[in-house]
Amino acid sequence: MAHNEDLFKKIISHAKEYGYVFPSSEIYDGLSAVYDYGQYGVELKNNIKQYWWSAMVQMNENVVGLDSAIFMHPTIWKASGHVDAFNDPLIDNKDSKKRYRADVLIEDHIEKFNDKIEKEAEKAAKRFGDQFDRELFLSTNPKILEYRKKGEEIKEKFVLALENNDLEAVRQIIIDNEIVCPISGTRNWTEVRQFNLMFDTKLGSVTDDASTIYLRPETAQGIFVNYLNVQKTGRMKIPFGIAQIGKAFRNEIVARQFIFRMREFEQMEMQFFVKPGEELTWFEFWKNRRMQWHLALGLGNQKYRFYKHDKLAHYANAAFDIQYEFPFGFKEVEGIHSRTDYDLSQHQQFSGKKLQYFDPELNQNYVPFVVETSIGVDRTFLMILCNSFVEEKITKEDGSVDERVVLKLPPALAPIKATVLPLVKKDGLPEKAHEIMDALKFDFNCQYDEKDSIGKRYRRQDAIGTPYCITIDHETLENNTVTIRERDTMEQIRVDISKLAEIIGQKVDMKHLLKRL
Ligand code: GAP
Repeated sequence: MAHNEDLFKKIISHAKEYGYVFPSSEIYDGLSAVYDYGQYGVELKNNIKQYWWSAMVQMNENVVGLDSAIFMHPTIWKASGHVDAFNDPLIDNKDSKKRYRADVLIEDHIEKFNDKIEKEAEKAAKRFGDQFDRELFLSTNPKILEYRKKGEEIKEKFVLALENNDLEAVRQIIIDNEIVCPISGTRNWTEVRQFNLMFDTKLGSVTDDASTIYLRPETAQGIFVNYLNVQKTGRMKIPFGIAQIGKAFRNEIVARQFIFRMREFEQMEMQFFVKPGEELTWFEFWKNRRMQWHLALGLGNQKYRFYKHDKLAHYANAAFDIQYEFPFGFKEVEGIHSRTDYDLSQHQQFSGKKLQYFDPELNQNYVPFVVETSIGVDRTFLMILCNSFVEEKITKEDGSVDERVVLKLPPALAPIKATVLPLVKKDGLPEKAHEIMDALKFDFNCQYDEKDSIGKRYRRQDAIGTPYCITIDHETLENNTVTIRERDTMEQIRVDISKLAEIIGQKVDMKHLLKRL
């Protein structure tokens, strides 16, 4: 799919207009790459977290939760490698004075070859019609083979340069491939430099180096340093997992794409502790399990793909990303990493404390290996928001065409499950509506709305993504029935008030999502 900037802009302004996401500190002109979640945003975010937590902790006997502090002993970040190696390679364009991540410039350039391949395939598909054999075309067309070869050659050089930490070679790739600054259009580049992404601050009133502490750049380390506490007090047997949701902070240099890359964000991470040698089996297991979690949301299987890491992080022996097709292309939402025994061994060494597990079956001590699943709450939020945003044309009974913007959110994640609407603001209808709302609010997050015409109120709920609207009219007072309108089909049926909780529950209950796992 071609990148769709217009669509993305519409989604960002919709998110603001309907109380999902606001720029942080907006009255002071905002703070770059920091955002606040509004009244509906916070509900969607909480529901995403609940879906993840239930899927990981509630549904797995051998996974338990944790909530560790953001501030941790500074040596943790020395041991984990973040002080020395959590860097981004940066390059500046001397004309525009803009700063870029050198790796992103190169990756975007490689992606252009994939776009060209896709365009050639689309053209050919139009030319050949039903006769078109896409696989054959992609594997034999000389132009495509040339594009692919070029892309692969650059990638090979790039991976080698990163592995050797050779910043001059990274710069040379940018020069050789004539990559230009998107702003100035020139190739007037500085050297490439490494920049550490951790924020630091001072603990207490003394401001010497020893009091420097970091805002955690991942939640995972809090799990590693607590693994024996949890194992012993929870009497956990390997294999077992520890799950955590929490804030993480990175001083991202190139903050782009709304809440996709933020400086303060939230992660949902699970570390799964396994017997050494079994890590790749568990890696496959969790890779598939996590994809299943995504697919159960019903956003469309074709919108996802796995991406294999060519350059592995210093701690990993296998790594895949789950990528989703955002309006700005396929991008990482989640990482699944086989982190070996790197972190625990490092903490053992730096702390001087044994972090071994006694395996009663083997009658032996060992440092477990770890498989990690790590997903960003905010990226998941953005993925769901982008997928749900639909502009629809509706032909009315009189033949005229109307338009609506609807957020087709997975019902179990929708902020408001049902809105109760009295048809008019008099004749006892508001009182009856409140009575219904008071009964339903024990089961679902509901809203009451009596302002504006019923049509306008439906549109407002569509834009918020509310799965059901319940309308109370004069007939309700006579026979205790209401109309219930479904968001996506806009179909309305008349039902007895006593049936409402059951009808709504069938669609919005989180357990329907969990049963698909
Ligand atoms: N513990 C492993 C780890 O942190 P990562 O790939 O750096 O791995 C995991 O991050 C996930 O966290 C990413 O897949 C992404 O969803 C989210 N994430 C990372 N940096 C982010 C940022 N600056 N803004 C928003 N989400 C981010």
